[in-house]
Amino acid sequence: MSYPPATSSSEGAARILSGLLEARTGQILSEARAWRMETALRPLLKIHGLSDIDDLAARLLGKGAPDLERDVVDALLNNESSFFRDLQIFDMIHRQILPAIQAKRQDRLLRIWSAGCSTGQEAYSLAIRLRNDADRWHGWRIEILATDISGTAIKQARSGIFSQMDAQRGLAVGDLIKWFEPMGDNWRASPELRRMVQFRQDNLFDAHAPSGAYDLLLCRNVLLYFTPQRRKTVLALLARHAHDHSVLLLGAGETVIGQGDDFTAHPEFRGGYIRQAALPHGAIGRLSRAG
Ligand SMILES: C[S@@+](CC[C@H](N)C(=O)[O-])C[C@H]1O[C@@H](n2cnc3c(N)ncnc32)[C@H](O)[C@@H]1O
Repeated sequence: MSYPPATSSSEGAARILSGLLEARTGQILSEARAWRMETALRPLLKIHGLSDIDDLAARLLGKGAPDLERDVVDALLNNESSFFRDLQIFDMIHRQILPAIQAKRQDRLLRIWSAGCSTGQEAYSLAIRLRNDADRWHGWRIEILATDISGTAIKQARSGIFSQMDAQRGLAVGDLIKWFEPMGDNWRASPELRRMVQFRQDNLFDAHAPSGAYDLLLCRNVLLYFTPQRRKTVLALLARHAHDHSVLLLGAGETVIGQGDDFTAHPEFRGGYIRQAALPHGAIGRLSRAG
């Protein structure tokens, strides 16, 4: 990878900072994001009285600075998200995937994991759809776990507070009025909605993964910046937390194809994935012949 030419920031400092990001999170900085490194770090430089990223790299190398390291990693992560991102996926979840899961779960327990949830829009979008469909879920226990490595993102997600601009990105006016309360210039998810989601700071590469298996797993727009080996590791982790009937959803530009053999294309849900082991013997051949 190449870095921006040395202006106020040197290539060496950029390498140190992106190396730190990769070591802590597995994320590789895309060239576009490497260019924006100094912009992303500007507020942090100001807080710490540092003039540029060379100064920052020197501070990190100089003495143990775990808090500063954590803040640098947080600032460099791409937390881009929005409500009902890729709306057709949420429609498919609502109309096809959840009814299929409902038919499988005799115990009336629905478990969903939003892995790499950022500031929580994905998890709240699911909670909104489920609450809007309360009759169908009467008598069901619903657990939504949402995890992210970024402490800042999880804190914001847990607060349920979104700016006017964030609220406008993807939320229908009816849902905004029904499920959010005005809070100064912002909007806050109602206590009922917040109670539906458990947010937890968690690194997908750490040993303490969530417990048990999930019916629906979303890991969208997270794998994109991992190396192929790390993608396999994450997919293997997700597979360990999936039932045979579980559905995995990735981001629009992501796939499991060529990323190990834990998951394969779902035979029914376009863009969804199922554990390879869940398919009956011979089904994979039939599927690939069917194109
Ligand atoms: C671009 S956001 C995607 C948010 C949401 N899934 C969506 O599609 O809108 C990617 C998220 O993955 C998180 N992430 C990156 N590396 C991670 C890791 N090793 N463990 C857990 N989360 C990670 C980032 O902090 C970021 O919030």
